[in-house]
Amino acid sequence: MTERKDDRLWGGRFEREPNAQFDAFQRSFTFDRRLLVYEIAVDSVWAIALEKIGILTGAELSQMMDALVKISKRAQADTAWLEKFGADAEDVHHFVEKALVEELGPLGWKLHTGRSRNELVATDLRLFVMDSVLEIKRGLYALLSALLEQAKGNIGAPMAGMTHLQHAQPILLSHFLLAHTEAFKRDITRLQHASESADECPMGSGALAGNSFAIDRQFIAHYLCFSRITANSLDAVSDRDFALDYLFALTGIVTHLSRLAEDFVIFASQEFSYVILPDEYSTGSSLMPQKKNPDCWELIRGKTGRITGALLGLLTTLKGLPTSYQRDLQEDKEALFAAHDQVADMIAVATGAVAATKFNAQRLKSAASNPALLATEAADYLVHKGIPFRQAHDIVGKVLREAEKQNISWTALPLDALKKISPAFAADFAQSLNVEAALSTKKVPGGTAPENVRAAIADLEARLNKKASKTGAKP
Ligand code: ARG
Repeated sequence: MTERKDDRLWGGRFEREPNAQFDAFQRSFTFDRRLLVYEIAVDSVWAIALEKIGILTGAELSQMMDALVKISKRAQADTAWLEKFGADAEDVHHFVEKALVEELGPLGWKLHTGRSRNELVATDLRLFVMDSVLEIKRGLYALLSALLEQAKGNIGAPMAGMTHLQHAQPILLSHFLLAHTEAFKRDITRLQHASESADECPMGSGALAGNSFAIDRQFIAHYLCFSRITANSLDAVSDRDFALDYLFALTGIVTHLSRLAEDFVIFASQEFSYVILPDEYSTGSSLMPQKKNPDCWELIRGKTGRITGALLGLLTTLKGLPTSYQRDLQEDKEALFAAHDQVADMIAVATGAVAATKFNAQRLKSAASNPALLATEAADYLVHKGIPFRQAHDIVGKVLREAEKQNISWTALPLDALKKISPAFAADFAQSLNVEAALSTKKVPGGTAPENVRAAIADLEARLNKKASKTGAKP
């Protein structure tokens, strides 16, 4: 076995040591050590594949597998060793090779036969994304459950539905809560897409050109639980679309969380007083003793920028890179890891806060009972009497103006006065003018009629129960 002058992965053709500042600058172990568990999995399967093509003997393979297990266990149990031994590792790939050589001597150097860190890092990161998707999906299912519980618990409670943040038409509070669940359901689909886009194994792509040892790529992919192998070795080391897809899915989630947060911040304001902030998810003011602030929602709304920033950051890194591996690609990891961690936290906090929130049914109902919200019902009433909608709209406008002149609520105008504006008004008009009637007419699929909302609750409940029975998790 030839001597090596140091334990770097590439020192042979260099005469002088790297500049110390640059050396620290180019290392990635401090953050890519998070990929260690995937690196060891890939290493183990690679070792088996090397044995299949005769590069390792059976005995060498079993020594190597034992050493990999030992390194993996030690890295988990002995943080001091990980820190100390990792201090001069360039990256996670170098770390494992150094540890292998320490365990096995020169045999450790055989593992890197025919492979490159360029394919390794792409493979590790794909595995990370696939695992991360599962974790975030679990979080979203818990959030869906919390929203579902509130929708069930508050069934029947009306609120003033808004557009442009202006009171518009009565809706059910449960309908509002279920609207948020639709958005998070779409996020689950998007996460699934990100996972599918990561689900291709680059191993065997080499640095860029492929593998000259006839390594069994399908075998490696299969044992790493990938569905497919990547189709083109050059693309395989260049591609970070799966990371973009994941960040895009995360951005979608936090955009929806931010909207939910904004709704709750507004609803918690004294002007609305629709929700009672839970103490456990609120903070006070150091100056004003009476304050209870919706910080959990403000922070969720505020942190959204970081995730959007991570997506834009990676897009910017990738823009203009030539085809193939470029060292710029090392910049894909830190923001991705941070975004994943942030989103997992944001979802968990949102879930807890949704579950702990109490709705002020009294306030919600009194806002929903504002007669102005029934103006559209009046126009619809006239349409049922055969009046074209545009004219009906106009007639109701006149009714409202007349009530304003008399300084009374328009629903208090006597039938005589209404008939003067349009003879189509009849004795049955009064019955259509209440919140319950307005809600019950919205029977169209997707509408806010109580029966529809009950059906939507049942649908979501069935989906969550099905999910829970598949995963064994609590719904
Ligand atoms: N640490 C690098 C990364 O994260 C992988 C190493 C590839 N380095 C190289 N010189 N080819 O992308």
